[in-house]
Amino acid sequence: MAYKVLNKISVKDTTSTQLVSLNTSMLVIVCNKDTKNNVAFKQLDKVSKGYLSKSISSNIQDDGSSLLLPQITGIKAKNIMLVKGLNSDKPIHKWLSLYEGISKKANAIKASDISIMCGNAYPEGKDENWLIETVAKTVESNAYIFSETKNKTTKKPSLKNLTLLTTGLKGSNLAKAKDAAKKGFAIGEGVNTTKYLGDLPANHCTPRIIEKKVKAMKKDFPNLKIKSFNEKDLAKMKMGSFLSVARGSEEPARMMVIEYNGGRKSEKPIALVGKGITFDTGGVSLKPPAAMDEMKWDMCGAATVFGVMSTLARLNAKVNVVGVMACAENMCSSKATKPGDVVTSMSGQTIEILNTDAEGRLVLCDALTFVGKYKPSYVIDMATLTGAVIIALGRHSSGVMANDQHLADMIIDAGEESGDRAWQLPLWDEHQSCTKTKYADLANIGGGREAGTIHAAAFLSKFTTKYKWAHIDIAATAQYSTPVKAGTGRPVPLISELLLSKRLK
Ligand code: BES
Ligand code: MN
Ligand code: ZN
Repeated sequence: MAYKVLNKISVKDTTSTQLVSLNTSMLVIVCNKDTKNNVAFKQLDKVSKGYLSKSISSNIQDDGSSLLLPQITGIKAKNIMLVKGLNSDKPIHKWLSLYEGISKKANAIKASDISIMCGNAYPEGKDENWLIETVAKTVESNAYIFSETKNKTTKKPSLKNLTLLTTGLKGSNLAKAKDAAKKGFAIGEGVNTTKYLGDLPANHCTPRIIEKKVKAMKKDFPNLKIKSFNEKDLAKMKMGSFLSVARGSEEPARMMVIEYNGGRKSEKPIALVGKGITFDTGGVSLKPPAAMDEMKWDMCGAATVFGVMSTLARLNAKVNVVGVMACAENMCSSKATKPGDVVTSMSGQTIEILNTDAEGRLVLCDALTFVGKYKPSYVIDMATLTGAVIIALGRHSSGVMANDQHLADMIIDAGEESGDRAWQLPLWDEHQSCTKTKYADLANIGGGREAGTIHAAAFLSKFTTKYKWAHIDIAATAQYSTPVKAGTGRPVPLISELLLSKRLK
């Protein structure tokens, strides 16, 4: 079960391609100061009798602004899009939005096939292969349109093929560019997989439906090993905390484990753990009704695990990774867990559940204990854990907290590289005091209105003392409410970059 939008992304060099006779629905030329001297462009411009160069000078002035031209006599492309390129001093998010715009435009004009001349400018410190990877990733992930639950008004992406046109690349350099495109395409596919699972309405995406989809991955990716645990299995493993979240729902909990071993046998795996609350009503500590529909995205941590594993499998990446998806529906009913109830976690620590809406940490703590048995080199959990992280950091970065500074640094680094940024919040000994209670070893909330994101991490840290661990709170980044409610597929780009770059060696 793959959620790729495009069929093919290829790289061609303009020295061996006649642009005039290039058969494409839209030829995109990202223009900068060198464009007019580019041999391939000059040829096109000549056929257009100088119309292209004139259009560049007079009609596209602002960064990222574009002009869509109809077919020009003598040039085979059905449309030509001129885009004002960026200078290397522009930040990465501007580069991402430029290519996002091109991808969306392609679907808007129903183009099935586009070719892009990216130009020879890159952000500072980056190179041509970074750009190729980024364009492939961004075009694939922005060509995505969710349509599964539409019947009469279905709109499917038209875009199927992308050709990246380079200038003067041959031999091993061209081969490297092709690898970069392949990598970007696979990350874009992972992003779409994650967006798709998140965008599915909660009644189309229960723990058991996710289980089916995970099992179906095996068909596309025989190099993945998939295990699934039902409530009986979870009870046998004494996951009393995880199970307490699913108690109020008719939908039983599921935990899926995806193993990918592309690295050396002796190499310990990196573990990814994802919160997979398929709907979060808050439970007995019921949430207010406004925007409660957005709680269908409360499984984006687990969906990120799913997306990243598909990327690794697609690329036959040389790493060992184990992914855990902890899935449950948080509902209220006569069976539901009540505030004040005490449960026993797999670690043996008892937990007083003072707020049933702080359920993410309750499923995660048992999944984090479980993953210890893999003796992982690093553990990273991803969770839409707290509304407070939106207040603390805003929508542009995920929040990182860790018991290992190197791991936190590498996560932040990979975020910078991929344009899927994360920023660190402290996790100090002083933050631990709030998990104290009279009736159990731990309480699931504490600290009142102060530092809610850190206090959630402090709770998790009681279960992660045996390994190097980071927690990424993605409540602000996995999904946006405006201008339309949609999943973003974050932090798939960050995690993919982290794992594929081998920063964690
Ligand atoms: N899933 C929510 C967090 C959330 C809020 C995600 C808004 C995305 C957008 C989580 O389960 C939750 O309810 N957290 C509570 C914690 C509180 C009860 C300590 C919160 O943030 O209010
Ligand atoms: Mn909640
Ligand atoms: Zn939640």
